[in-house]
Amino acid sequence: MSPKQIDGKEVAKHNSMETGVWIVVHVYDMTEFLEEHPGGPDIILQYGGKDATEEYDPIHPPDAIKDNLDPSKHIGTLIPGSLAPPAPAAAPEPVQSTAVVTTGQVAAPQPYVKPDLSEILSLHDFEAVARHTMNRRGWNYYSSGADDEITMRENNTAYQRIWFRPRILRDVTKVDFSTEILGHKSSMPVYITATALGKLGHPEGEVVLTRAAHEHGIIQMIPTLASCGFDEMVDAAAPGQVQFLQLYVNADKSRTKKIIEHAGKRGVKALFITVDAPQLGRREKDMRTKFEGNASSHQTKGGDKVQRDAGAARAISSFIDPSLSWKDIPFLKECAGDMKIILKGVQSWEDAVLAAERGCDGVVLSNHGGRQLDTAPAGITILPEVVAALNQRGLLVPPGKPRFEIMVDGGVRRATDVLKAVALGATAVGVGRPFLYSMSTYGFEGVCHMLQILKDEFEMNMRLIGAPTLTDVVPSMVDISALKVPTVGNTMFGVNYETMYPAGVKAKL
Ligand SMILES: Cc1cc2nc3c(=O)[nH]c(=O)nc-3n(C[C@H](O)[C@H](O)[C@H](O)COP(=O)(O)O)c2cc1C
Repeated sequence: MSPKQIDGKEVAKHNSMETGVWIVVHVYDMTEFLEEHPGGPDIILQYGGKDATEEYDPIHPPDAIKDNLDPSKHIGTLIPGSLAPPAPAAAPEPVQSTAVVTTGQVAAPQPYVKPDLSEILSLHDFEAVARHTMNRRGWNYYSSGADDEITMRENNTAYQRIWFRPRILRDVTKVDFSTEILGHKSSMPVYITATALGKLGHPEGEVVLTRAAHEHGIIQMIPTLASCGFDEMVDAAAPGQVQFLQLYVNADKSRTKKIIEHAGKRGVKALFITVDAPQLGRREKDMRTKFEGNASSHQTKGGDKVQRDAGAARAISSFIDPSLSWKDIPFLKECAGDMKIILKGVQSWEDAVLAAERGCDGVVLSNHGGRQLDTAPAGITILPEVVAALNQRGLLVPPGKPRFEIMVDGGVRRATDVLKAVALGATAVGVGRPFLYSMSTYGFEGVCHMLQILKDEFEMNMRLIGAPTLTDVVPSMVDISALKVPTVGNTMFGVNYETMYPAGVKAKL
């Protein structure tokens, strides 16, 4: 039976609790769902009787309505042209630059001129263009970190405290930076880490990254909270293209089981369980986007206290299970079958050891791009002690078993950063925001250009440090004496790589 055709005038009448709240994303009756909506009822009420498609699409996967509403709530499809279009969204504010003229006077602001892609020379350049060209909501969601953003900054600056100890007179005519991540080939020790809401930056969303990952032979981690549907991203992959899945564990375990089993059937090779987000961090920039849009509707019922956790992040994440614990690992492993299980968001050597002891296949040392606990350590700063702790217990290369893999993410912007992580024992690093920024600014070509920049950097830097292959990138190629002051709360390990990487492991981890 074809769906009932609904006139926009009828929809417009259903705009309150009294009349029922119909919204157009194909005309649904949302009245009973108001209180359950993870983003709160206000936002649905705000769109009562209106077309919410433009607001809805970037922050919900395509199946979100089907999965959460009874089919009887689908009232029908809208008669084209029968509902007045919503007021146009505020155009991105043109960013003006202020030029100083030689007389010392300040010249009139100049409109921003987006550079040609060929002028983009580094990953940082994409961020600069994104800051000027993305709409405010997308930029605020992508660029925000938690609280004072100390961890977000540290993620990048920590790499600057590691210095190379380059070797010379080695034949570096040919350099090869290809590797394997969890047993799967990758053209470089870099993967696309999961970042939610790709359509806030590009109308096609995460499938752009899927295609670029294939073009450049790297692995994409599919986010639970993608704007594209999971199947859409798997379908966008080329035959044989390897994909991982990031998983937020749902409080309703049967849903998690269903998602994992479906991922296994669709050929996903590894599950990255996010363990650093039992509650979402306070990302004030993201929260402000909402306050500016509709401040009064974000008051609590008492009217005197501002809701602290609004913003795009909150709107999509309230299903995450805060009771997740080590006890759930056997359940997740059982659901995963042949897929590998990695814990994403490990922030101490103790938890890395626990993960290995509980049979996980690896960890990502990550603080969620500085978006969760502010002043949590950068992954790279704890990498040496994680390697040492696993090694001391025989857990890094367990006899007769595959190596326990350590990955790091956060703040990686140069191939030199990646090489430092590899030297210290990481299999690979995850990169997040640079993919979002390159996609948002120049689409598929932008992402490919970004990956080519990284490849060019690898080639040059491996020559300059004297490493023809990644197995030649060893701990003694980096000086970490400035990385961490070895006192507060960590008396067990020194910082000197000589003690952390004893002779046996020093040659190559
Ligand atoms: C906009 C954005 C959204 C993110 N969404 C998720 C997510 O849904 N799940 C998750 O496990 N991590 C998420 N992350 C964290 C990333 O997987 C990764 O840890 C982080 O981005 C790495 O730092 P970088 O952006 O500096 O490269 C997100 C990060 C950003 C910037």
